[in-house]
Amino acid sequence: MTRDHDARDSDDRAPDESAREDEKRLTDGGTDDAAAGADDVALDPWGSSAVSDYRKLFEEFGIGEFDDVLPEVPNPHYLMRRGVIFGHRDYEPVARALREGEDAAVLSGFMPTGDPHIGHKLVFDEIIWHQQQGADAYGLIADLEAHAARGMTWSEIDEHARDYLLSLLALGFDPEEGELYRQSDNRELQDLAFELGSKANFSEFQGIYGFDGETNVSHMQSVVTQMADILYPQLEEPKPTVIPVGPDQDPHVRFARDLAARMRFFKVTEAYASFELTDAERALVAAVYDEREQYAEEPDRPRCEEAGAWLAAHADLDDLGVVVGDDVRESAVEKLNNAGMEPLRPRVRFLDANATEAAFEGLIEAIDGEKRRYEEHVDAFDLDVADAEELAREIELDHGGYGFVPPSSIYHRFMTGLTGGKMSSSIPASHISLLDDPEEGYDKVKAATTGGRETAEKQRELGGKADECPVYELYAYLLAGDDDEFAKEVYDECVGGERLCGGCKEQAAELMREFLEDHQEKREEVEDLLDDLDISLTSSRRGVAPGDE
Ligand code: TRP
Ligand code: SF4
Repeated sequence: MTRDHDARDSDDRAPDESAREDEKRLTDGGTDDAAAGADDVALDPWGSSAVSDYRKLFEEFGIGEFDDVLPEVPNPHYLMRRGVIFGHRDYEPVARALREGEDAAVLSGFMPTGDPHIGHKLVFDEIIWHQQQGADAYGLIADLEAHAARGMTWSEIDEHARDYLLSLLALGFDPEEGELYRQSDNRELQDLAFELGSKANFSEFQGIYGFDGETNVSHMQSVVTQMADILYPQLEEPKPTVIPVGPDQDPHVRFARDLAARMRFFKVTEAYASFELTDAERALVAAVYDEREQYAEEPDRPRCEEAGAWLAAHADLDDLGVVVGDDVRESAVEKLNNAGMEPLRPRVRFLDANATEAAFEGLIEAIDGEKRRYEEHVDAFDLDVADAEELAREIELDHGGYGFVPPSSIYHRFMTGLTGGKMSSSIPASHISLLDDPEEGYDKVKAATTGGRETAEKQRELGGKADECPVYELYAYLLAGDDDEFAKEVYDECVGGERLCGGCKEQAAELMREFLEDHQEKREEVEDLLDDLDISLTSSRRGVAPGDE
């Protein structure tokens, strides 16, 4: 999320109940919220400890470990190298596109509910890095969401929106190459939101976000708007798209991936005969097909009933290399038996999910080689799955569809508050705003909690606890910049007992002051640039803060 340690201070119900719901789901109701779990995280500069600390997200939510894709990423950003970006969903296609100079996009959004702070800087940096690697870059102001879900007035929103945009530009976003927009102003986006809304229903909102009968309707609209944000970079053309956010936004990412799939004209699957199989059954039947020598009278023409009989009698599924329940075996056997003498024969299948008549006809015509048409699907015998996917997308685009690629995401860790515990924008001392006076930034770092020992003597003897130190985090996430050597030096000196907290904080505080001075100077320099951009900085909207009562 982009408000990773933002206060959830002004939701329409109790203080941001719905965001809490996301977090609860993410942590499976264990701890109270994801950020609290994250605060306990042991910080190892090279990321290895992130794996076990975020295990729940990997195991229960299917988020992938970023370290697994890291080798595929060209010139990885230091946030990637240091394990600050710890997780991802389906990032491989994006990494591949960056590596091979193919089209890719990056997009993230910011709710203008307060000042941009050093947590938002992580996301700004992620967008800018992807832009520098050649991706089309998008940054958006989630003003509809801020109004509907946080009760911000339009004038408050305008003020903060400007600040987010200035910081994003000051950090290096190139507006000539990329696009900045605000949700409220983007007609194309809202049209897409409307289309996506036709594939979503209230039960899902209940299940995913905990919405109920009291939730205001604009809040729900802001959800479909975010779904549209996530798919917006693909309106021009489908392409791998990454959404850098905090893990609390994962429910949005999953939902957007679902909706992207639901909008497709055709669903492409592998198949073995004319009938439909579930994914589990398909894996089993694929394995049974591979064993055809064992049961088929003519092994180049195995029959469904032969396969069914063999599967029914084959005691050990383990040695087929598939792990499925008995119910799956039974249903697969039944389907195979019902098909009798029909040959078991691999093919790719195009299921008609949303296609127009013309698109379905167009597809059939475009399939090369042997094909067989059915009521709601067509089977192709001389295509592999990748070619079939490509063809399906081509036909869809030719016939007025979107052809969306499922969006990918990367997740960064939440920063610890400077005062320990959670970083929150409602506790000014816990975070550093990008607008803080440089002296104030200096003071906040000097006053920060550390992972140091009670006495200098003990520190020399035992070393500091860099893994639990918010000051070390500042070095790793921000102050060391691209300089891995420096970050490692701080870490090693700390845990080795050579570094004492007083001097360490002094150094960090000075770097923070320098960073803020420099950043704020750059913000001033990009004022004109912002004013020249095609993005409205004052809203003409009127209205009162919404509520659910
Ligand atoms: N919901 C996000 C937040 O709370 C903001 C947001 C809106 C967003 N649209 C987005 C983030 C699209 C990523 C992609 O901060
Ligand atoms: Fe933290 Fe620095 Fe103290 Fe180590 S020496 S605990 S990094 S403040």
